[in-house]
Amino acid sequence: MRDPKSTLDVTRARESSAANTFRTVDNPPVFVRGDGPWLFEADGTRWLDLVCGSSTTTLGHNHPAHLAAIQDVTATGILHTGTRLPSPFRADLYELLGSILPGELSCFQLVNSGAEAVEAAIKAAQFATGRTRLLSFEGGYHGRTLGALSITHGERIRKPFSVFEEIVDFLPYPYPDDPTGAATSADDCLAALSQRLQDLEHTGDLPAAVVIEPIQGVGGVVVPPDEFVIGVRELTRTFDVLLICDEIWSGFGRTGRWFSFEHTAIVPDMVTMGKALSGGLPLSAVAGRADVLKAWPPGMHTSTFQGNPVACNMACATIATIRDQNLLGHIETVVATELERTLRPLVRLDRIHAVRVNGAQAAIELLDGNGEPDADAVMRLQRRGLEHHILIYAGGRYGNGVMLVPPINIDRNVLADGLDIIRELIEQEVSS
Ligand SMILES: Cc1ncc(COP(=O)(O)O)c(C=O)c1O
Repeated sequence: MRDPKSTLDVTRARESSAANTFRTVDNPPVFVRGDGPWLFEADGTRWLDLVCGSSTTTLGHNHPAHLAAIQDVTATGILHTGTRLPSPFRADLYELLGSILPGELSCFQLVNSGAEAVEAAIKAAQFATGRTRLLSFEGGYHGRTLGALSITHGERIRKPFSVFEEIVDFLPYPYPDDPTGAATSADDCLAALSQRLQDLEHTGDLPAAVVIEPIQGVGGVVVPPDEFVIGVRELTRTFDVLLICDEIWSGFGRTGRWFSFEHTAIVPDMVTMGKALSGGLPLSAVAGRADVLKAWPPGMHTSTFQGNPVACNMACATIATIRDQNLLGHIETVVATELERTLRPLVRLDRIHAVRVNGAQAAIELLDGNGEPDADAVMRLQRRGLEHHILIYAGGRYGNGVMLVPPINIDRNVLADGLDIIRELIEQEVSS
């Protein structure tokens, strides 16, 4: 295997600068082995992974069920047969997905990345309704391809590109902890959505869909009041607009349930999923009502690698492992409990604006001495984490959130030890 120095040199010289490799430090670690929550450098140095490859490897590294799933497929000698032929592994995945979703969401479109799932859901909604307009929410993240970027709120990442401004509206999303003081109540957010839908109905331009993260993930683990999500569902029904729940970040246990929409018991018309679904291999999916996902003719949305059998069987292994090992129970009794126990005390510190724990994820919002969101402090903490061989994520609407995204099956003591170090680093940062 290529040595670490040469890996860094070649990557630095040849990789597009849009990739994130050198964003945090000039010389990020080069890992050559992984096991559970641990990553290892060539010299054997061990690191704790509380990022999980942007929440993809949520069962940890080197999981036996994932390795067996890959071997099951490679043993057949067939790595892909394209989009025109069925595959037993794809059929297995459809059945397993069906077993964890409400009965209404019985049909699936497989694609390759989160953003592409969002694109496919948008296209399916536009095709099924004959409308083009889309509504989405402030603080939401849906990916970087042009369609997904068009409904992603972040101005900085949208602005340089020709996104579809004229067909997208952003509506307020309840964010009670908004550090700028711009918090909007669930009632006000619902009133704004209702008004927008009425106006659009009046002009004969109702949207094809409303796209929502029922719990915002990279936006900083923002959990809106239940009545907001329920109200959005009711309004979309009233105006006959499709509701798409983006579960790409939240799905498969991250929020403590299979999907975050389950916390409010609503049933959307479509669900996008990716990331944790396939344990690190590129696979994503749209689940939807049959009358929506069977409305379009063959070939209307294809993609060369869609339904790749290795990725599909990885996804089958993910679902079976979460189910058979009761990992949703483990998240509640171990992961969420430890995150809460270790991190909650931080809220008493002046520059800690909020600590939010939800399922197997946490966000700690930092402010600077003037009470402004402090994204620089979060970058410093990520670097301090690297010095202590712990990988820490960053997020939040203003980039001022330290985010912790551990494997959902992590051992209590391993998590507690890592969190103790992170809490100390945060305490040092805000008292400096
Ligand atoms: C909610 C949500 N939707 C969509 C995406 C885009 O997924 P991908 O990066 O796989 O395109 C992400 C990625 O973080 C996400 O969190």
